Amino acid sequence: GGVFTFDPGYTSTGSCESAITYIDGDKGELLYRGYPIEQLADKSNFLEVAYLLLYGELPTAAQLEDFVGRVTNHTMLHEQMSYFFRGFRRDAHPMAIVCGTMGAMAAFYHDSTDINDAWQREVATIRMIAKMPTIVAWAYKYSVGQPFVYPRNSLDYASNFLNMCFSVPTGEYVVNPILSRAMDRIFTLHADHEQNASTSTVRLASSSGANPFACIAAGVACLWGPAHGGANEACLRMLRQIGTPDRIPEFIAKAKDKDDPFRLMGFGHRVYKNFDPRAKVMKQSADEVLGLLGIENNPTLQVAKELERIALEDEYFVEKKLYPNVDFYSGIILDAMGFPTSMFTPIFALARTVGWISQWKEMLEDPHLKIGRPRQLYTGPTQRDYVEVEDR
Ligand code: CMC
Repeated sequence: GGVFTFDPGYTSTGSCESAITYIDGDKGELLYRGYPIEQLADKSNFLEVAYLLLYGELPTAAQLEDFVGRVTNHTMLHEQMSYFFRGFRRDAHPMAIVCGTMGAMAAFYHDSTDINDAWQREVATIRMIAKMPTIVAWAYKYSVGQPFVYPRNSLDYASNFLNMCFSVPTGEYVVNPILSRAMDRIFTLHADHEQNASTSTVRLASSSGANPFACIAAGVACLWGPAHGGANEACLRMLRQIGTPDRIPEFIAKAKDKDDPFRLMGFGHRVYKNFDPRAKVMKQSADEVLGLLGIENNPTLQVAKELERIALEDEYFVEKKLYPNVDFYSGIILDAMGFPTSMFTPIFALARTVGWISQWKEMLEDPHLKIGRPRQLYTGPTQRDYVEVEDR
């Protein structure tokens, strides 16, 4: 029923009601359950934010302890999963591994993913949030040919992730608390973003009643593209390709040329037409991290800052309201931490998993849930008769 509207790219179609995340694109405002992202990035931490997104309120101390305890309990992957990783080509992109292994979890937990059972939904929720860092870290370890590092439950969420990525059996790796805090902040800033492409993908996939692990794998697949989560990887590659500030005008010209498909990666957003509040926090964080590590003279950061300055004064970018987005600065921090560019989007996926699951949970709790079924404007041939092969 309803009036047919044609809206390619869904620029003006609301697909659901949601009480999770609010964005005002003109004001550059982002709220999780009403709380400004700047306050959460400054005062809260990722697991507290995860609780807030999932359950709607900030937890009491006891609720937080219980939640963190439950997540921590589930950080291990089933040992058989380690063989699954080993089936990938050793040069596989970690996003391919994350997508595949997340999907494979459907096979590992098929007996406890009845989506009509609130308790089983809760268990799947906790499992995904708990195991995603292990999956992402193991995808990394596999890609660099190092042994998998098991979760260490004495560490907090971000520190445990860094430890699983960077500790090696031959040395003593101690997580730098500055890096762990910066990592946690990256997770918080990426945790949710209302009905973006990957979240809508998760909702659409889940609307058929599909297995939750498979639905999150669909979200990972969608996030991978350079127009979405893949932008952080593409952005750092672009900054490196530019190399030195004197080459910036050449790339700005390319980005403005309508006959050239090149776009400035990390610039522009479908909803933010003033600034991306996440980018502001991320920029500050990049300055802090690089300063504390004593690498302020990082050439990539210099190119990024100069590119931002030039683009923000350029008529084309001003007119089209193109501002740096969250992905513009996150790559610089991750690079400084020692991550290869191929890991940037998996880290985004790790963080966004909590948003995907919060939206999935909200959708399944809606008694009026309907399968998602967009319509189309048909442009093919009208009815015609079959032609025998010898007559074609
Ligand atoms: N560089 C150069 N021109 C651009 C850019 C850019 N980064 N972004 C948009 N434009 C131009 C575009 O060519 C178009 O021009 P015209 O009206 O003359 O045809 C106009 O601006 C509007 O662009 P659009 O593609 O119609 O806008 P959209 O809302 O569909 O796209 C976007 C939003 C984010 C996909 C796009 O800005 C883009 O491709 N940016 C680069 C990739 C990127 O950084 N993505 C990360 C987004 S934030 C994190 C996330 O979502 O994961």
